[in-house]
Amino acid sequence: VEVTSVKHVAKRYQLKKEAAAAVKQGHPWIYRSQMSTAAEVFKTGQWLKLLGPQNDVLGYGRFDADGLIAIRVFKQGSTAPDANWFDARIDRALAKREQVRKYTDAFRAIHGENDSLPGIVVDVYGDCCVLQTYSASVDALGRLVARRVLKKLGLKSAIWKFPVKRKTVREDRILSGKIREEVAFREGKLQLKVSIEKGQKSGAFLDLRGLRKWVSLQNLNGKRVLNLFSYTGTLGLAAEVAGAKEIWNVDVSKGALDVAKRLHTLQPKKHKFIAADIFEWFSQLDPKERFDLVIVDPPMMASRKDQVETALKAYRKLYREAEKHLSPRGQIVVCCCTSRITRGKFEQTVASSFGNRLKKKQNLPPEDDHPVTFPEGDYLKVLVYQS
Ligand SMILES: C[S@@+](CC[C@H](N)C(=O)[O-])C[C@H]1O[C@@H](n2cnc3c(N)ncnc32)[C@H](O)[C@@H]1O
Repeated sequence: VEVTSVKHVAKRYQLKKEAAAAVKQGHPWIYRSQMSTAAEVFKTGQWLKLLGPQNDVLGYGRFDADGLIAIRVFKQGSTAPDANWFDARIDRALAKREQVRKYTDAFRAIHGENDSLPGIVVDVYGDCCVLQTYSASVDALGRLVARRVLKKLGLKSAIWKFPVKRKTVREDRILSGKIREEVAFREGKLQLKVSIEKGQKSGAFLDLRGLRKWVSLQNLNGKRVLNLFSYTGTLGLAAEVAGAKEIWNVDVSKGALDVAKRLHTLQPKKHKFIAADIFEWFSQLDPKERFDLVIVDPPMMASRKDQVETALKAYRKLYREAEKHLSPRGQIVVCCCTSRITRGKFEQTVASSFGNRLKKKQNLPPEDDHPVTFPEGDYLKVLVYQS
């Protein structure tokens, strides 16, 4: 019903000039601030036929009565999306993952607007898939997409997990089969595990695969690694595989560190686990401690525009502290996981924090299963600096 009848159920809505231009350029969102009062009658989840100034049909989208994004545009052009169109979107997304799947059995099958399925994310871990929907307006469509992914990939189970912001309204729900407490997956030579139901996001940070690979390919023989904001320690394991003799994993979540200790160490003696607020912990760290590789992967800190300056200030503090503990010729990896801080702003902040003391060595691009097709989709930035 959700997709077969779009042609019949879609209501006509004439876009204001700016919104029409955005749709023409292929942008997947129309912001609330770009809407006219005529939209006030629509309910969340309503399909809209989006009209331009001359009443020409520019595309089709789903309306949301709440939040900053009022319409998620699914399709451009005059023909309405139907079941075949959705199927083709899913096939196209899965085809893009073929290369990644040679390296891992955990990947993002559907990356929302970047795969032309706004607000819908489906991650796969082994034989399970995890659906996340970012707006009530796409909940029903998300379930449909997850069912199709499950079938196309021959998976055994599916769970619908709600992003933190929506957890208060909806509870996670099993959609199919049984979800094991811990699911094993591999990435190259790394054997990893994830607790899908208890973990953050879909369970693990799949987008950091490129960084895990980079770390695992470094020569860290005899080296010391400081893994800040370590979560379940998958980067710590990558460092151990690369030969590190000592790895300090620091995170505020004791639960995440317990998982790290239990699941992501080969020789536990090489790892230290420190449950602390990193901003306070630095003052307790012996000024003489030196590390050859420091990873700084803080939480997003800025989900709103007005939080950007505070987040950047916190980043600068982290970089200052991290640099004090860097060995000669040591490397620092800095990550930023919010598109609120643009790539340009992030790079500029890092460069000005390190001055000419550290040199930029590498810029790790997003993984193939996390394609970026519009400016706001460019959320994850990972840079490597060296002293
Ligand atoms: C982006 S995730 C890190 C992912 C991790 N690097 C990995 O490899 O999976 C951010 C982490 O920061 C932790 N965190 C948030 N605020 C913190 C703080 N003030 N001090 C220490 N850890 C913090 C969260 O518990 C979360 O695990």
